Amino acid sequence: MFDHLTVVTHPLVQHKLTLMREKDTSTASFRQLLKEISQLLAYEVTRELPMTTRVIDTPLCEMEAPTLAGKKMALVSILRAGNGLLDGILDLIPSARVGFIGLYRDPETLRPVQYYCKVPSELEDRMVIVVDPMLATGNSSVAAIDRLKEAGATHLRFLCLLAAPEGVARMKEAHPDVPIVTAALDDHLNDHGYIVPGLGDAGDRMFGTK
Ligand code: URA
Repeated sequence: MFDHLTVVTHPLVQHKLTLMREKDTSTASFRQLLKEISQLLAYEVTRELPMTTRVIDTPLCEMEAPTLAGKKMALVSILRAGNGLLDGILDLIPSARVGFIGLYRDPETLRPVQYYCKVPSELEDRMVIVVDPMLATGNSSVAAIDRLKEAGATHLRFLCLLAAPEGVARMKEAHPDVPIVTAALDDHLNDHGYIVPGLGDAGDRMFGTK
């Protein structure tokens, strides 16, 4: 069983993350590195996918060979930065179903408000992996997972690039059943809600906006 938080310390992940953190890394390099890292993190987050076997013929003989069981998994991207993780994972798991959840922060209440939600059917029968590069306050991830549970999901994982202790604590309080896989647990959130040391605004860095 997964711990609540898994930090993937693999040297390739850590090396790529350092390149992404550097402020002078170009938009193109940032996006490419995010894609590469997403595949390495996906390897970890899918470790417990259910398996079965089926009989196949190799050129030499018949064998009972391992294969994935059950319904296709669902990947759910929290817009917009989640899309930067999505592309790489889809290259690795092309048959995954895909959902999107859009949230903005209400300027009065500071609570996340949903403006878009389209998720695959039969979520109760799928492993659902929610992707968002930055787990900062945890407000949007908690809201997205609330929504997915309302839609029937019971077997969820959260995949991010960087996590702040505040976001991990918030997720553990609201959704203790949802394991988090990340490349690093950073130090803290600053007064503007940015992860420190972090890498800045992940959406801006991957899409070249500011
Ligand atoms: N979102 C980001 O893109 N960066 C942060 O540091 C925190 C939230």
